[in-house]
Amino acid sequence: MAPAPLLSVRRLRVHYPKRGLLPWTGTPTIKAVDDLHFDLQPGETLGIVGESGCGKSTLARALVGLQAASAGSIRFRGQELIGLDRKEWKPLRREVQLVFQDPLGSLSPKMKVIDIVAEPLKALMPELPADQRKARALAMLARVGLGEELADRKASELSGGQGQRVGIARALIVEPKLLICDEPVSALDVSIQAQIINLLADLARERNLAMIFIAHDLAVVRQLADRVLVMYLGKVMEQGRADDVYTRARHPYTRALLEAVPVIAADGEKPKRRRLLGGAAIQPGQPPMGCVFHPRCPLVEHACVQSVPGLRKVEGAEQYAACHFVAAGG
Ligand SMILES: Nc1ncnc2c1ncn2[C@@H]1O[C@H](COP(=O)(O)OP(=O)(O)OP(=O)(O)O)[C@@H](O)[C@H]1O
Ligand code: SF4
Ligand SMILES: [Mg+2]
Repeated sequence: MAPAPLLSVRRLRVHYPKRGLLPWTGTPTIKAVDDLHFDLQPGETLGIVGESGCGKSTLARALVGLQAASAGSIRFRGQELIGLDRKEWKPLRREVQLVFQDPLGSLSPKMKVIDIVAEPLKALMPELPADQRKARALAMLARVGLGEELADRKASELSGGQGQRVGIARALIVEPKLLICDEPVSALDVSIQAQIINLLADLARERNLAMIFIAHDLAVVRQLADRVLVMYLGKVMEQGRADDVYTRARHPYTRALLEAVPVIAADGEKPKRRRLLGGAAIQPGQPPMGCVFHPRCPLVEHACVQSVPGLRKVEGAEQYAACHFVAAGG
């Protein structure tokens, strides 16, 4: 029997009201997350990938209680999280932490590194004496590769990579069981990206930390992810073991993402991605009929416009794809 999941998400919906609409102009909501299912086991890393606007950050915020869900269920160690108030969330803050793309962006630029890292201890473990708090913060800084000499620096004096290390230290200091990383490396140079990804992989392994790692790009999550979930317009297009998804992607959208390899850039330019997907960019306020991917799918047929494909298990693999033309398995 499979072990009980640490996190279990079922039929999750997060719909935002559309602004500036006249009453007769159609659907009044943006379905940022629409009917999402997945499980996460203790110590497992799930990579979540999709283009801008597909609902990744909305999902991350809903998982940590910063965004109200419209429907569905999020269970952490069997406890339902949807509908909890701030007070009920407090003990869970030690268990579930979030790392943002710009983790220091919401803090004062004058705040010292040591205080940034120690702050969650102050808020969530107030019984801890100040000297122990400081010792733990210094140890955590050392673990993420930042020496004691950085402890008294101000947030504004850090490089992008150092800032992200501080963000990781701040999230992990309370020893969570689940870490949700929302595009933690997207704003960093490629060489720094690799260092941060290696650091997160090491930390996850040594702490048996479950991790959700969000990125635009399948290549970024490859090194980390045990399983991968591909999103499009708030829905799961494909999910499965990382090896299966990378070597035998079943959904046309996943295949297009995999084929969007970087193009060699001229000196001093950022690498570009070959654009493979035709059609208009996604508009979350106006989801297409039938399969949401049909306006851009190279394999589209009449049935794709008529009905929404359910997420089907792929024959012979722990892999699921939402496409009418994937051979279903038991
Ligand atoms: N607070 C909000 N109110 C209304 N609409 C929102 C809100 N937050 C996000 N949206 C909309 O929901 C959709 C999903 O946004 P979200 O930020 O979750 O996407 P994303 O996949 O994280 O994108 P990116 O890769 O650019 O970060 C978008 O259409 C966005 O405009
Ligand atoms: S259901 Fe149709 S449009 Fe959607 S991914 Fe499959 S082939 Fe493409
Ligand atoms: Mg986002």
